[in-house]
Amino acid sequence: MKNKKPVVGILAGGQSAEHEVSLQSAKNVLDALDKARYEPVFIGIQKTGRWSMQQRGLAQFLHEDDPSRIALAPGGAPVTLAPGRGGRLFNLETGREEASLDVVFPILHGPFGEDGTVQGLLKLAGVPFVGAGVLGSAVGMDKAIAKQLLRAAGVPVAGWVELRADPSYKSAVEQARAVYKIYEEVFGLPFFVKPANMGSSVGVSKVHSKTEFVTALKQAFAFDQKVIIEDYIEGREIECAVLEWNNKVLASPPGEIRSRHEFYSYEAKYLDEKGAELLIPAALDQDTVRTVKSLARKTFSVLCCEGLARVDFFVRPDGGVLVNEINTMPGFTRISMYPKLWERSGVPYPRLISRLISRALERGDILS
Ligand SMILES: Nc1ncnc2c1ncn2[C@@H]1O[C@H](COP(=O)(O)OP(=O)(O)O)[C@@H](O)[C@H]1O
Ligand SMILES: [Mg+2]
Repeated sequence: MKNKKPVVGILAGGQSAEHEVSLQSAKNVLDALDKARYEPVFIGIQKTGRWSMQQRGLAQFLHEDDPSRIALAPGGAPVTLAPGRGGRLFNLETGREEASLDVVFPILHGPFGEDGTVQGLLKLAGVPFVGAGVLGSAVGMDKAIAKQLLRAAGVPVAGWVELRADPSYKSAVEQARAVYKIYEEVFGLPFFVKPANMGSSVGVSKVHSKTEFVTALKQAFAFDQKVIIEDYIEGREIECAVLEWNNKVLASPPGEIRSRHEFYSYEAKYLDEKGAELLIPAALDQDTVRTVKSLARKTFSVLCCEGLARVDFFVRPDGGVLVNEINTMPGFTRISMYPKLWERSGVPYPRLISRLISRALERGDILS
């Protein structure tokens, strides 16, 4: 690695409902990557889970400027990493070595990407990577587990209970009808229903009635057998970017999301251009900023994160601060909060990408 540029594998797409979001992020990371310093190799993970590597110079994406239609360009070579081969990438048809990766940036969101599965594969393949390892990724992905750990560590979170798909009911609809009353009594209306393992608001609903609960549970169970039912929190949505740098865990000044929809839904996030407004920095008093930053760092450490994360909060009208969730691989589109928060703190997008990659390479050196 001494005289040549490190080869950076950009892994994107994936099998989760956040495939398109991942492609948007990856496109921006590829554009911003400092090519004088790093050699990119783009690996697309199709919705089937297959990996393919596009020939250099050919387009990686179709419809790259349309967030709802962006897709992997067809025709890449089928590739795989093999255990114990130090990041070498083999062509499954010819057996030829296509590339040797020095580091991987898994820009993947949701299950099979952000949940420790890909991280385990990269570890076995002997290649360092950006972001949380197996444990941090898995814990951060599962909202029920993450909330249990946070609560045990004294980090304030919204009240919730777990609900699992019960096979003694014929369907999610039947289960929803049978259990609705209990949740209405415990949480009052409205309350939230979310799949435990998902992201980008996929399968998340705000419930105001029994009918809405039936639809909400059906949708949530479509993504996970475990869902959480949560107290509705009236408050502002505040986000804080965390970055490990020079052995320090840095928290950015917080930003605010103002959604124009009923809540910060998938549509508000990615489809409706005017769906949400990002206010950076958030207009908060100094005490609240301090609380948010310190809870962001604490959350990062309690949930065993590495490299980066975005911690999302609710700030209530009375000033109370609650952690909503952590994203161990936050969105990296041009308009995403994570890169924007660092940009405003004096770390431009390309430099942020270089920092993340060089930190992963350093960690690789320590471990090898
Ligand atoms: N308990 C809650 N109270 C109020 N709004 C909520 C609550 N939980 C989620 N939301 C809304 O739903 C959005 C998505 O939920 P979130 O838990 O962040 O899931 P995801 O991982 O899909 O982003 C949040 O950004 C917020 O707008
Ligand atoms: Mg969220």
